[in-house]
Amino acid sequence: MVSEAANAGQELDLSRIPAHIGIIMDGNGRWAKARNLPRSMGHKAGVETIRSIVRECNRLGVKYLTLYAFSTENWKRPEAEVGFLMDLLVRYLRSEFQELHENNVIIDSIGDIEALPAKCRQELESAYERTRSNTGVHMYLALNYGGQREIVKAVQKAMADVQAGILKPEDLTESTFSRYLYAGAIPEPDLIIRPSGELRLSNFMLYQSAYSEFWFSQINWPDFTPADLRQAIADCQKRDRRFGGVNSEG
Ligand code: FPP
Repeated sequence: MVSEAANAGQELDLSRIPAHIGIIMDGNGRWAKARNLPRSMGHKAGVETIRSIVRECNRLGVKYLTLYAFSTENWKRPEAEVGFLMDLLVRYLRSEFQELHENNVIIDSIGDIEALPAKCRQELESAYERTRSNTGVHMYLALNYGGQREIVKAVQKAMADVQAGILKPEDLTESTFSRYLYAGAIPEPDLIIRPSGELRLSNFMLYQSAYSEFWFSQINWPDFTPADLRQAIADCQKRDRRFGGVNSEG
């Protein structure tokens, strides 16, 4: 559990930690450029940040953490960068596995994983198989992920169930629809964090973000610290979430 020292300065209400946090990990390239380093070094530094943020989420008791690691649009990047990111994923899963497993993390993914290189798929599947019974934070790596594609695929799956006689069209509701999304009906993200100064969703969790709180900052992802995460949570806790209703004071 989190210590008071770790909580210092941010006044977190530990009884209201977001159940699900989504992070758009952005700014690796700019971080590297500012240091005259190749972009690949920014991605490598971004992996270090993942390590510290997953640890912090686990300590705080966050149940689900979704990290946007590779979008359906990221294939447009130079081949060498795409190749580097895929290799980095494999290296990440191999080198971090032990620590993640010891910390009870469930390693999972969302997105069209079939289109990833075989070595990535194998590593992901094996990591999932070996950690699925863990009880710590459930970490989803969003890989070859796009919110629009996720919705289209969910519609296709629902239509197939209608055709198969498993689902009646009138039984498809906002809540039953969510079962067809990549991760199924898990709680929607309470908080979506985007560092690096961009103010957009970039195709991240379009269906699930209907009532998410957003937290933006100028910090590039490699510089993002556990203290920044706690700040984001603390700021989010100060907001009045009404989900379209009114609060008790009217
Ligand atoms: C955005 O920064 C970052 C990405 C497209 C990839 C995120 C990947 C990592 C943090 C590391 C790899 C992840 C795993 C799970 C091994 P950008 O390159 O768009 O930065 P820029 O906008 O400053 O150019």
